[in-house]
Amino acid sequence: MENPERIQHKLTDKGYVPVYTTAIVEQPWDSYDPVEHGTWATLFERQSKLLPGRACDEFLQGLAHFGMSARSIPRFADLNEKLKLATGWKLIGVQGLLPELDFFEHLAAREFPVTWWIRKPEEIDYISEPDLFHDLFGHVPLLLNPVFADYMQAYGRGGVKAARNSPEALQFLTRLYWYTVEFGLIQTAAGLRIYGAGIVSSKGESIYALESAAPNRIGFDLLRVMRARYRIDTYQKTYFVIDDFHQLFAATEPDFTPYYELLRDLPSIGAGAIVAQDQVITRGTGEGWLLDGDV
Ligand SMILES: [Fe+2]
Repeated sequence: MENPERIQHKLTDKGYVPVYTTAIVEQPWDSYDPVEHGTWATLFERQSKLLPGRACDEFLQGLAHFGMSARSIPRFADLNEKLKLATGWKLIGVQGLLPELDFFEHLAAREFPVTWWIRKPEEIDYISEPDLFHDLFGHVPLLLNPVFADYMQAYGRGGVKAARNSPEALQFLTRLYWYTVEFGLIQTAAGLRIYGAGIVSSKGESIYALESAAPNRIGFDLLRVMRARYRIDTYQKTYFVIDDFHQLFAATEPDFTPYYELLRDLPSIGAGAIVAQDQVITRGTGEGWLLDGDV
């Protein structure tokens, strides 16, 4: 079998541009070399030390249930056996970023795309696009949680609809993914915890999101989140906090079409801004924020 390609962004005279790929590939597990397994081990050990007491119980339980360890890069086939039994989700191997509609269609079919390749050692602290560590360690443990698993599928179905609706609708929905699946916090009896994959897969942001005085932490409100711009190049200026996964699923149950109509007439909100109706948990000091560049 030919090995799948490692597809990453391209550097052009206009800067980095993303490259999309739709192919579904077999994980070439035998092709991972000791350096790649070592990168997994370094990242896995670092995050598993950091996350107890910071990540939500559902995430930590998921990680333990899969039996992921620092020993080697997990095999998708092994994880799929457990996933199938628990929530009926399935990991599929991809070569890089998927076009939005393809991504949504997979989620709607309870298939989670996982990039087969892992970052290079020099990218250990930061990589601009999702690699195997982000996709697998960050996203997959929560797919064992039935409520979160259903939310992901509902999101995918919403995405397929939004893609047919308008570019604005897609943008609103992308913000929801960003502030929940990637950068969400959850309130628990023991205090705030992380569930977003972008945070749990990052050493720096796992600490910053909970412990820094700089960012805002605001109670989750669907329409508010859909108006919020965000950062793709720095830690977030604002984190949205859910009460539990049921709240997330319930908020996304209705058809979003009337919301998109409403949102089209409302201005977007800057990534670090607080507005009158916000349920503010902590107001950030704004230290270190860049003034421009919210997307
Ligand atoms: Fe992600």
